[in-house]
Amino acid sequence: MTKLRFGVLSTAKIGREKVIPPMMRGARTEVTAIASRDAARARSVADELGIARAYGSYEELLADPQIDAVYNPLPNHLHVHWTLEAAKAGKHVLCEKPIAITRADAEPLAAAAERHGVRIQEAFMVLTHPQWLKARSLVADGRIGELRVIQGCFSYFNTDAQNIRNKADIGGGGMLDIGCYPTVVSRFVTGREPARVFATMDRDPVMEIDRLGSVVLQFDGTFPIQASFLYSTQLTPYQRMIFFGTDGRLEVELPFNALPDRPMRLILHDGASGPLAEGEVVEIEACDQYGVAGDAFAASILDNTEQPVPLAFTMANMAVIDAAFRSAESGRFESIRS
Ligand SMILES: NC(=O)c1ccc[n+]([C@@H]2O[C@H](COP(=O)([O-])OP(=O)(O)OC[C@H]3O[C@@H](n4cnc5c(N)ncnc54)[C@H](OP(=O)(O)O)[C@@H]3O)[C@@H](O)[C@H]2O)c1
Repeated sequence: MTKLRFGVLSTAKIGREKVIPPMMRGARTEVTAIASRDAARARSVADELGIARAYGSYEELLADPQIDAVYNPLPNHLHVHWTLEAAKAGKHVLCEKPIAITRADAEPLAAAAERHGVRIQEAFMVLTHPQWLKARSLVADGRIGELRVIQGCFSYFNTDAQNIRNKADIGGGGMLDIGCYPTVVSRFVTGREPARVFATMDRDPVMEIDRLGSVVLQFDGTFPIQASFLYSTQLTPYQRMIFFGTDGRLEVELPFNALPDRPMRLILHDGASGPLAEGEVVEIEACDQYGVAGDAFAASILDNTEQPVPLAFTMANMAVIDAAFRSAESGRFESIRS
C-alpha cells in the first residue's frame, strides 16, 4: 500500500476547506469516504470535493473496510468518543486539536491504540510545518544564545453564538481553541515541560466561554525559561511568537495559520544591531501545512516509523491546559499533574 485511505467524520468546515483538499492530493494520503449526521449533506460535500463514498452516520463510515484511517474534526467534546470508536473498528486516527477537553478524558486513548494495533495522533499541524522544525533547530543551535523568554499571542474576533467555539458545554472557549497553540510550540521548541502554570481568564458573561486569557508557563532548569502569551476570541486578529535569548531573538511571523501559497518567514535579530535593525530573514519554502501533517502521519504508519506527534506529547499538553484552567480558578501558580 502506498497511500493511507482516509474516511472523514463530519462535514466540518476545517475538513472541507483546509484539510481534505490537500489530503486528497497527498503523496501518502487519499480521502475515500465522508460521513455526516445528515446523509444528504455527506453526499453533497462528497460530490463537491470528489470523495467516492458518503455515509449518513459516523457508524457506517467506521464499518467501511476500504478505509485504513479516520480524520476526526468533530467538536471538541466528541474527539475522544469517536477516536475510541474508530480505534475499536481498527482504524488509525488523526484527531483534531485539542484531542480532549481534559487530560483525564484523553486517558483511555493510549491503551486503546495499543489494544487495537492502531496509531492515534492529535492534528497539531504546526508541529510538522518546516517553519517550526527550523525555528526549533535555530534555537537549539544557539542562534539566539540561551533561550530565556518566549512571548506570544493568538487572537481573532468571533461572537457567533452558534459557532462551536462559543458553546461552553461542547468544549468551546479560547484556551482549548487557540491558547493550546502557543502552549504546544513553546514545549516543542524548548523540548521541555513547564513545571508550573499561571493563568488569568475572562469569560463571556452570556456564552460563558473563556474569551481572553493570559498565561505564564515556567520551565525549570539550569537556564529557567518563562513563556507568556495571550489568547482571545474577541480581539483584533493577530498571531506572533517571539523567542528571546541572551544574544538575540527569533520571531515567527505567521506562527499558526501559515499560508500554503507563499514562503513563511522567521526573523533573526542579533543583540548587537540595535532594536530597530531589520533582522535576518530566514524564508521557508511554501507548503500546505495540513497536507504535510497528513503525509507525515500516513508515512509513519505505512513505513512503520516513529509517529511525528506522539500521544505522550499530546497528553503532556493536555496536562498544561488543565493546569491553566486550575490556575484561572485558584488565582495561584498550579503545578503540572501528569
Ligand atoms: N487545526 C486547525 O487548524 C483547526 C482549525 C479549525 C478547527 N479545528 C478543530 O476542528 C474541529 C472542528 O472545527 P470546525 O470549526 O471545522 O467545526 P464545525 O464547522 O462546526 O464542524 C463540526 C462538525 O461536527 C459535526 N457535529 C457532530 N455533532 C455536533 C454537535 N453537537 N454540534 C456541532 N457539530 C456537530 C457536524 O458535522 P455533520 O453535521 O456533518 O455530522 C459539524 O459540521 C474542532 O475540534 C477545532 O478545534 C482545527
